[in-house]
Amino acid sequence: MKKVLVTGANGQLGSEMACLAQASDVAFVFANRQLLDITDAASVQRFLLQHHFDIVVNCAAYTAVDKAELEQTECFAINAIGAKNLAEACALSNTFLIHVSTDFVFDGTSPLLLNEDDEVHPLSVYGASKLAGERAIAAATNAYIIIRTSWLYSSFGSNFVKTILRLCAEKQSLSIIADQIGTPTYAADLAGFIAHLIPIDHLQQHTGVYHFSNEGVASWYDFAISIRDFAGLETPILPIETYQYPTPATRPRFSVMNKKKVKETFGFSIPYWRDSLANCIQKLK
Ligand SMILES: NC(=O)c1ccc[n+]([C@@H]2O[C@H](COP(=O)([O-])OP(=O)(O)OC[C@H]3O[C@@H](n4cnc5c(N)ncnc54)[C@H](OP(=O)(O)O)[C@@H]3O)[C@@H](O)[C@H]2O)c1
Repeated sequence: MKKVLVTGANGQLGSEMACLAQASDVAFVFANRQLLDITDAASVQRFLLQHHFDIVVNCAAYTAVDKAELEQTECFAINAIGAKNLAEACALSNTFLIHVSTDFVFDGTSPLLLNEDDEVHPLSVYGASKLAGERAIAAATNAYIIIRTSWLYSSFGSNFVKTILRLCAEKQSLSIIADQIGTPTYAADLAGFIAHLIPIDHLQQHTGVYHFSNEGVASWYDFAISIRDFAGLETPILPIETYQYPTPATRPRFSVMNKKKVKETFGFSIPYWRDSLANCIQKLK
C-alpha cells in the first residue's frame, strides 16, 4: 500500500483529496499548516525522513492573487521556498513529489492553446512565485510531476463559484469580465486525476510538467452565467471589459491550456467544464 502525504489539507484541493481518501487503498496522511508548515525547511525534512512516504502531494499554496502584490515576501515564502523545501526533502527521502502550479505563469498574449514547453512570462507576483516554485522543484529533484491548473473551484473553501452565488443573492445585477478567457477546473476532477497518478508504478519515468484543466473554454462572464443558471437564479449579469474592473494583479487575457500531454501519457479522460460545474452546484445545493 502506498503512503501519501497531502500538504495544505484544508484548502480546496486538499479537501477534495480527503473526499477520495476513504474509497482508495492508499495510506493518506493529511497535513494542514499547523501540522506541517512548508516554509519551515527543517520541519519538512524531519517529517519526510520520519514517515517514509512514497509520494507527497503539495496542495499548500499562497493563492490570494491580488493580495500577493502587497505581500510578495509571504507569497514567495510559501509558493517558491515552500516548494523548494518539499522538493529538497523529497530528494533526501526518496519521495516522489506531485506539485500544483498555475496558468498564471503565462502572460496570455498568445491566442493558441498553451503547451507545457511554451515560453513563460508571469504578469503577477503570484504567477512569478509559482514559476519560482516550479524551477526550484526541477533543480532539487528528478522525481516530480508539476500539474499546472486554472480557475480552480470546489464546494470547499472560497472561490468564484461561491462568490457569484452570494452576489446573485445580494445584488440587483452583476458586471463580470468577458475578455479574459480560460478554463474553469473543478478541484474534485483534479483530485481525481491525482488519485489516478498515485498507483502508477515508476512515476519517475513521467517526471515533468503537465497541463490539467477541465475541457472547453470560457470567459469569466460565461462562467458566471453558467453558475447562475445551474443554481436556478435569475440575477442579470452584464459583460464588461478588464479595464472596467481594475485589480492589483494583472491576469493573462487568454490562458487555455492544451491537455494533450496529460491525456496521452496517462490515458485520463477529462470532463467538460459545464458538466463538472453542474456537479459542483448540485453538491452545494
Ligand atoms: N485557486 C485557484 O484558482 C488556482 C488556480 C490555479 C492554480 N491553483 C493552484 O492549485 C493549488 C491548490 O489551490 P487551492 O485553491 O486548493 O488553494 P487554497 O484553497 O488557497 O488552499 C491552500 C492551502 O494551503 C495552506 N497553506 C498556506 N500556507 C501554508 C504553509 N506555509 N504550509 C502549509 N500549508 C499552507 C492554506 O492553509 P491556511 O488555510 O491555513 O492558509 C490552505 O489550506 C495551489 O498550488 C494553487 O496555486 C489554484
